[in-house]
Amino acid sequence: MDHFLYRDGQLYAEDVPVPEIAAAVGTPAYIYSTATLLRHYRLFDEALSWGPHLICYAMKAASNQAILKTLADAGAGMDVVSGGEYARAKAAGVPGDRIVFSGIGKTRDEIRTALEGGVRQFNIESEPEMQVISEIAAAMGVVAPVTVRVNPDVDAKTHAKIATGKSENKFGIPIARARGIYAEIARLPGLKAVGIDVHIGSQLTDLDPFALAYRKVAALTETLRADGHDIGRLDLGGGLGIPYTRANDAPPLPVEYGAVVQRELGHLGCEIEIEPGRLIAGNAGILLSRVIYLKEGEGRNFLILDAAMNDLIRPAMYEAYHDIVPVIEPAAGAEQSPFDVVGPVCESGDTFARGRMMPSLRAGDLVAFRSAGAYGSVMASEYNTRALVPEVLVKNDQFAVIRRRPSFEEMINRDSLPEWL
Ligand code: LLP
Repeated sequence: MDHFLYRDGQLYAEDVPVPEIAAAVGTPAYIYSTATLLRHYRLFDEALSWGPHLICYAMKAASNQAILKTLADAGAGMDVVSGGEYARAKAAGVPGDRIVFSGIGKTRDEIRTALEGGVRQFNIESEPEMQVISEIAAAMGVVAPVTVRVNPDVDAKTHAKIATGKSENKFGIPIARARGIYAEIARLPGLKAVGIDVHIGSQLTDLDPFALAYRKVAALTETLRADGHDIGRLDLGGGLGIPYTRANDAPPLPVEYGAVVQRELGHLGCEIEIEPGRLIAGNAGILLSRVIYLKEGEGRNFLILDAAMNDLIRPAMYEAYHDIVPVIEPAAGAEQSPFDVVGPVCESGDTFARGRMMPSLRAGDLVAFRSAGAYGSVMASEYNTRALVPEVLVKNDQFAVIRRRPSFEEMINRDSLPEWL
């Protein structure tokens, strides 16, 4: 459930009519709902309330400071994958002991910064990384809390580009090698193993792959404990999918996911960490856009919008489906016809949907891409020297610009000329 609903014939973001935001901020623009962000966070919190847990929001999904602060104030930790994300978490006031550092290519600088500023744990993804973290921590005279991200070789049954838990993927350490690695960690001076980490992919719409992976983690927990390791924490990654269509193919709910976690891992008495990104931010955001032209093509009609692939890359990159709805509610039973919905960028790949049934629209009309809150703005670029889309946060009947649209001058002034020009 989200808080972008039609009321009195127009789309609202909570209690704010979306056209009001368009008038104030222009288009395209990302709009987020505070109530939806918090609702999704709380659903996970309740789903895991049977035991100690921490929800570390995977900020790669949407990392505006206002979003981070909204979630951090509600008690969320953060999952970060770069020095930049670590800095964002700290800037949003997240204490180091609520920041989990993931990612396969942590640099020495990033590791040092996190050890200085405080970190809940590093999720180690390779033997060389393990050596480097230990070396840096020992040189600083500290002990780094770590888990090993194990690759359970489970098929997440999601899009190939966002599946991470099969042995052919670049992520994690094969679960069969885990015992040896934990033994090595125990020998290294700068490391202390505090748990196990696993993440098998994103936009999972079936609980079975989670259950399979978590069963393997449960067995590994027992084995490692028998080996004398203190496994008190299980980081289960993110990945629970969201409904991208209004059809009834809805993925399982957080409460159902939480029940699987309890069933597979509850008996171990571990603190559970999860790293959801998409489920918290995805349906908490829309991308607002305006129709520039309607163009009649050869046997097909194009709806040309002022949003493009540089603003929302998911359809071009993953063939992702996003609902595209008119901001002014069409009359019940209004006639629909098929459109190719495209952006102005000079590539055929700049296509959001082909043959999408849409009600009749005119140049100047507003449309909203639903479920665009996760992996939308954060994946935007300035391709074709299009300004990065501004972001707006709504709370009840208020809204605020949380990232403004840069001017062309600002964009151009980031370049500098060498002295010979
Ligand atoms: N933890 C780790 C280690 C991850 O790699 C990811 C996502 C998450 C947590 C959060 O997963 P989520 O709950 O959001 O599914 N750009 C793609 C998605 C890439 C996901 C990358 N890793 C998309 O637009 O579908």
